[in-house]
Amino acid sequence: MENINWSDLTFGYMKTDYNVRSYYRNGQWSELEISDSEYIPMHIAATCLHYGQESFEGLKAFKGKDGKIRIFRMRENALRMQSSARGIGMAELPVEIFEKAVTEAVKRNERFVPPSESGASLYIRPLLIGTSAQVGVKPAKEYLFVVFVTPVGPYFKEGFKTTPVGIFREYDRAAPLGTGIYKVGGNYAASLVAGEIAHAKGYSAVLYLDAKEKKYIDECGPANFFGIKNNTYITPASTSILPSITNKCLMQLAEDMGLKVECRPIPLEELSTLEEAGMCGTAAVISPIQRVDDVDKNQSYVFSKDGKPGVVCEKLYHQLRAIQYGDSADVYGWVTLC
Ligand code: PLP
Ligand code: COI
Repeated sequence: MENINWSDLTFGYMKTDYNVRSYYRNGQWSELEISDSEYIPMHIAATCLHYGQESFEGLKAFKGKDGKIRIFRMRENALRMQSSARGIGMAELPVEIFEKAVTEAVKRNERFVPPSESGASLYIRPLLIGTSAQVGVKPAKEYLFVVFVTPVGPYFKEGFKTTPVGIFREYDRAAPLGTGIYKVGGNYAASLVAGEIAHAKGYSAVLYLDAKEKKYIDECGPANFFGIKNNTYITPASTSILPSITNKCLMQLAEDMGLKVECRPIPLEELSTLEEAGMCGTAAVISPIQRVDDVDKNQSYVFSKDGKPGVVCEKLYHQLRAIQYGDSADVYGWVTLC
């Protein structure tokens, strides 16, 4: 076994032992296949290559102090992948196949699940692609579903620390009636240039505004946005953002902590009234926001003067992590023991 320094892991790719695959042909999904290859043989006219028929998911497995491995919200990810498949005309994968493949991928790579004290986790990446040939713009007839895993540390290298994010009005990630609500590769392609510009200027992510009026908050790079004020957890309702499973968890935890929860359009100016703000997602967990710079308007909204996360962000973060690592009881049924 390679010597992995678990505490120093970043959010990067590391080869693991096996991946799990299922093929959709003649209207049927195949039995699962286990592969030790990192490659996929591909037809040059496959629809995933030309027309972006590609959807992926991201979920994590955690090893607790008790040595047990917990997969977090696997069913929700299966359902979201079905929604993405419908959204871009791909064959839907049954939830049971998704769950079996994910569980198998974790078990076969058990030696890569980081120990609990490292704070790292096993990132699980399910992928669904159109594989049959088409030159006309049409959905494929055949699909491949693959699950690979890789051990990861924090997505934002700062971990649970505040970072600044920037608004860049000349870039949109998704259109109001486009594919923003699906987890499909095209949305990420659309975000790459703005993301690189933001990183070069010292921001951890781009805060996107709604594409139509540039009036409301949409989401934050690869994460949803939330704000806290007057004992209320507020997160954007929008037709162009990915429905984050982490955000759903935080809404539940916030409610049970006695906060009100509002999911509604958030006008940009409302940022000046927020006491705390953060980004949330599987990779991002909770990443508290230090400030938002509206770069083109030369205006800043500051949430943390001393650079420390706010108290509500901190509490939500610890409660979420405690459930994921098995330190708190799984009262919501979010965890599947592997
Ligand atoms: N928004 C985008 C664009 C994402 O890529 C992600 C990551 O999956 C999220 C939000 C957060 O979603 P989740 O909490 O389900 O991981
Ligand atoms: C995730 O949080 O799982 C994501 O997919 C975000 C990003 C790495 C694309």
